[in-house]
Amino acid sequence: MEILPHISDFGYDGRVISLPGRTEHVARGIGILTAGGDSPGLNAAIRAIGKSAIRSYGMNVIGFRDGFRGVMQNRFIRLDEDTLSGILTVGGTVLGTSRDKPHRMDIAGERMDMTGVMVDNAAALGLDVLIAIGGGGTQKNARQLARRGLSIITLPKTIDNDVFGTDTTIGFDTALGIATEAVDRLHSTAHSHHRIIVVEIMGHNAGWLTLGSGLAGGADVILIPEIPYDIDIVAAAIDDRRTAGSTFSIVAVAEGSRPIEYRIKQQELRDRLAATSGAEQDAASTELTALRRSARNHTADLTRSLEDRTGLEARVTILGHVQRGGAPSSADRTLATILGTEATRLADSDVTDVMVAMRDQDLISVPLDDIAGRRKVVPLDHPWITSARMLGISFGD
Ligand code: F6P
Repeated sequence: MEILPHISDFGYDGRVISLPGRTEHVARGIGILTAGGDSPGLNAAIRAIGKSAIRSYGMNVIGFRDGFRGVMQNRFIRLDEDTLSGILTVGGTVLGTSRDKPHRMDIAGERMDMTGVMVDNAAALGLDVLIAIGGGGTQKNARQLARRGLSIITLPKTIDNDVFGTDTTIGFDTALGIATEAVDRLHSTAHSHHRIIVVEIMGHNAGWLTLGSGLAGGADVILIPEIPYDIDIVAAAIDDRRTAGSTFSIVAVAEGSRPIEYRIKQQELRDRLAATSGAEQDAASTELTALRRSARNHTADLTRSLEDRTGLEARVTILGHVQRGGAPSSADRTLATILGTEATRLADSDVTDVMVAMRDQDLISVPLDDIAGRRKVVPLDHPWITSARMLGISFGD
C-alpha cells in the first residue's frame, strides 16, 4: 500500500459524477479507521465500506493508520480497488489500530486533548464522513468527535460482544469458535490425566465469550464477571462430579471473573471513593489499585485453590490473543460486509453520528448518544445461562 506523504495528495475534489439511476451527484470523501483491540473481520469491514463506497457511490476513500492517532497525525492511505482487494479473509487490520483516546492522547509522555486537531484535520482533508470500526471505547470517542462537529458513523467490533445497542459484534463469532475448539481439545487431556483444567478466556467485563464457548464446548464450570463466585461452591461442584464417577473437570473462566469477596470489597471501595474527598478519597483509590493488583494472577490462584480443595491435580491454560488472531469465520465476514455496506449507504444519505447495528436479524442505526458509555453484559436470565444451569453446569454461585 502506498503511504501518501502529504494530505494534499489525497485528491478529494468534490467532483460531480454520474451514478446509475441518479442524475448527478457530488462525490463524497470518507475516511475509515479501526480502533481498540483488533479482531477477525476488520478487513472484511474495511473492504465492504471501501468497495461499496467506490462502486455504488463514487466516493473518495482513505484509511487512517493506527486508529485515532492516524487522524491526529494525518497518516492515511488512499483506499482503491487494488488496495481493497484480497483482504476479505485476512485477520487483523491492514490499517493498524491503537487504543488511543482523542481527548487523552499520549504526546511525548503528556496526556493531551487532541479532539480539535482531529476535527480540523478531517475538515482540511475534505472528509464528509469518518467511519470508525471499534468497540465500546470507540463509540465513546466517536461521540466526542461528533459533538465537536465531525460527522461520524461507527461499526461495532470486539471479540467480547459487549457493545451496547447491537446483538452481535464483528469478531465475536470467530473468537467463539476458537475458544470452543480449545475447550473441546482440553477435554481429552483432562480426561486422560484425571485433572482439572482451568481455561482462561478473554473478557474483562463481559462473559459472552466464556459462556458461549463453555456451553458449546461442554465445560463443567463457567465463571463470568457478571456472576461473582464462591470458591467452595466451585470445588464442591468438582467433588460432586468425582463422586458421580467423573475424575476430570473443565473450568471455563473469563479473565474478569472474580470471587464474591472481591466484588464486595470492590463495591465498598467504589462507594468510599464516591462519598469522600481529599486524603480519605486518596486512600480509597490506593486500596482499589491494590485490590486490582491482587487479582493479577487470578486464574493461576483459582487453579491452585481448586487443587488444594479437591486434591485433584490441576492445570491452567490461558488462551490469550490466540482468540483474536487469524481468518474471520463466515458469520463474521458476512456481518462485517453488511454492516460496512450499510455504513456507506448511510454516509451517502447524510445519516451520521450513529452506530450501524444488528437487532433481531435486522440492520439498524442507533444514535451514538444512546449507546456511548454503556456496556452490554450478559443478562442473568439469558437463555445460555438458564440452559447451562439446567444441565448442571456450575457458575460457582
Ligand atoms: O477488547 C477485546 C480484548 O480482547 C479483551 O477481551 C481483552 O481483555 C483485551 O482486549 C486485551 O487487550 P490487549 O490486547 O490490549 O492486551
